[in-house]
Amino acid sequence: MKYGHFDDDNREYVITNPATPFPWINYLGNEDFFSLISNTAGGYSFYKDAKFRRLNRYRYNNVPMDDGGRYFYIKDGDSVWNPGWKPSKTELDKYECRHGMNYTKIKGEKNGISAEVLFFVPLNTWAEIQKVTLTNTSNEAKKFKFFSYNEWALWNAASDMENFQRNFNTGEVEVEDSVIYHKTEYRERRNHFAYYSVNTEIDGFDTDRETFVGLYNSHEKPQVVLAGQPENSMAHGWSPIASHYIEVELNPGEAKDLIFVLGYVENQEDDKWESKGVINKTKAKEVIAKFNTTAKVEVAFEELRAYWDDILNVFTLESGDDRLDRQVNIWNQYQCMITFNFSRSASYFESGIGRGMGFRDSNQDLLGFVHQAPDRARQRVIDIASTQFPDGGCYHQYQPLTKRGNDEVGGGFNDDPMWLILGVTSYIKESGDYTILDEMVPFDNDESLSQTMFNHLTISFNHVINNLGPNKLPLIGRADWNDCLNLNCFSKDPNESFQTTENNSEGSKAESLMIAGLFVYYGRDYIELCKVLNKNEEATRAQKEVDAMVNAIKENGWDGEWFLRAYDFYGNKIGSKENEEGKIFIESNGWCTMASIGAEEGMCEKALDSVKERLDTKYGIVLNNPAYTKYHIEMGEISTYPPGYKENAGIFCHNNPWIMIGETELGRGDIAYDYYTKIAPAFIEDIQELHKTEPYVYSQMIAGKDAFKPGEAKNSWLTGTAAWNYAAITQHILGIRPALQGLLIDPCIPTKWDGFKVKRKFRGYTLNIEVQNPNHVSKGVREITIDGTKIEGNLIPVLTEGKEYDVIVTLG
Ligand code: GLC
Ligand code: GLC
Repeated sequence: MKYGHFDDDNREYVITNPATPFPWINYLGNEDFFSLISNTAGGYSFYKDAKFRRLNRYRYNNVPMDDGGRYFYIKDGDSVWNPGWKPSKTELDKYECRHGMNYTKIKGEKNGISAEVLFFVPLNTWAEIQKVTLTNTSNEAKKFKFFSYNEWALWNAASDMENFQRNFNTGEVEVEDSVIYHKTEYRERRNHFAYYSVNTEIDGFDTDRETFVGLYNSHEKPQVVLAGQPENSMAHGWSPIASHYIEVELNPGEAKDLIFVLGYVENQEDDKWESKGVINKTKAKEVIAKFNTTAKVEVAFEELRAYWDDILNVFTLESGDDRLDRQVNIWNQYQCMITFNFSRSASYFESGIGRGMGFRDSNQDLLGFVHQAPDRARQRVIDIASTQFPDGGCYHQYQPLTKRGNDEVGGGFNDDPMWLILGVTSYIKESGDYTILDEMVPFDNDESLSQTMFNHLTISFNHVINNLGPNKLPLIGRADWNDCLNLNCFSKDPNESFQTTENNSEGSKAESLMIAGLFVYYGRDYIELCKVLNKNEEATRAQKEVDAMVNAIKENGWDGEWFLRAYDFYGNKIGSKENEEGKIFIESNGWCTMASIGAEEGMCEKALDSVKERLDTKYGIVLNNPAYTKYHIEMGEISTYPPGYKENAGIFCHNNPWIMIGETELGRGDIAYDYYTKIAPAFIEDIQELHKTEPYVYSQMIAGKDAFKPGEAKNSWLTGTAAWNYAAITQHILGIRPALQGLLIDPCIPTKWDGFKVKRKFRGYTLNIEVQNPNHVSKGVREITIDGTKIEGNLIPVLTEGKEYDVIVTLG
């Protein structure tokens, strides 16, 4: 069964049945003010930080699912319905939800009334606009009652859900004209309030939840709506809400727009009050006035569309396959922007109160985002680097509002430093801007400890070699990329987190082959950077270290048919044929083959053949095999998951691209692309019922072959999967790869392809690239011409800004 389809011309996914297998969501806003919105208008908004500045209350894991949102109720005679079907779930004559690039349109129709709502956050605006278009599609005049509804969160989303002895007393609102203001805690330490307005006179309102919904009712049947009569209630403590009441009359064929604005305002300390106890509403009124007509809203909406046109015009593919084109040109890029904005903080699987921005996650996210807005990537990577410790270690996470490292999680994840090299070099490769290396960047957020960004990279590189174990391989610390391989944290206490429990790293022999491969791969980028900067001595030194690591991997990291995964605390092998379970892992085999370690000796080919044989499944490549069936305390969290889920033999989509890239290094384009299509959303649209999560974005995990329901996905949207799949397809399969000295063209495609076309904007000029594959090979560039002139090799050097060039690439 299918619940919707793609509309590529509009860059939308169109949902036609509201009862999707899981709420299918979208994100609004792209700089400061954000919203999550499901296909039935559930979700919430926040300013910058989903934990500390939550505007609306949302109930995770609630019964029914997806409870809380911006709801509009229509009471037409005895019938009560919502344009998005929920919460009343009255059957609609028509329903459609269109999720687009940072906007969502939801339309419901019932008994001759159509209600369409456009939701978006205009550029540079701290507010969500909800433009409601009500149309009388019948032949007779219609008179009905219209209610808006939104429940306020008391700002800190964590305490909002637990500290009721206080919360039930603090709620405060003001109502002026058609605007409901939420000002809880504004009297004390807060300099911010929220508001909800509509651009018409209202016939009543409510601000107290119990009055509106009824203590023993639900959002499905609020008593005020059933009665068709607002109470003009004022909230004092308990749970403040905002509901407008409007009586609507429409002649046959007549339409009317109502524009709602849900916004956030900050005031200076000395400017907080208009008079005693009355908040200063000036800024809110300015925003409301800016969007108080349909024409103004349409202009703002067009601006948003234009913004996305610009972003998505940087890389456009014509492959001849709609599925691939929509992945590359629309949805994968969109997801990359979303992961850049949110890291792993707020989705329908991340509650917004748990994790902040991840050091390793955010650096990897840059890989898929940097071409979209290089300036924002630049700032981000500086923010990230500022949380690094002077010895090269890193705070594993930081909070976006304060940009400071999180003490509760701390550091000790020994892969973190290398990802900074990825983040910074990705930025330079895209932009050609080397000045970032001269920026003075703090350590541990302490300005007095600042050093240049280049030094941060040197210190990151050194952190790995300063922390080697008995096999000359990198010590793992609390964990490497695999958060659940906690070889130094032997937790017996079920109340502790595996990542932050006691750390036995001292005296431990636990080493990681994944970090080893990562070090070689990005170590080479570091060396190249040194060379371009004429730091030849440093380049030579670094080269020696990388060579030594390659040797250590070949000597101590090869298991005969594949690369080992790790050595544990006691020095025992993990991911070896000697193990009973978990004989082979994906990560080390990905990174070591990406770095072509032992390629001459046939190690890469063997390793990838073993991956194919033991880890490949119909729905993607599982993380390890055989799955752990018993709990191994010395391995940490990994074996706490039942077989087939998450890091215990789930299909962890984030790391599948590492194998794809490894395959492209071997020149096996058919296999690489086959792996790509197994997990790419547009290619598995037909199994959406099994897959469960949104068919337009990647999920972090798909249940593996040992799971109860192989193929079922969880944890959609916020995952490194987005950036890595984008890198795998664009940079390694299509092979259009930014490099320090220009744009490298090195495709590795399925042999049956005749070629493809890409329009790439790069460092201020445009390349119309046509790749031709007359001999049906996978890899190997025979010739490149730029405007008819042949060039040497396959690197397109830096060209002239503002110009457009035709590039013909012939393979084989
Ligand atoms: C999650 C984490 C990421 C980690 C991965 C594997 O995606 O955000 O940091 O690398 O899980 O454990
Ligand atoms: C990552 C892993 C998850 C683990 C978590 C710990 O998200 O995927 O399994 O529990 O990190 O922070």
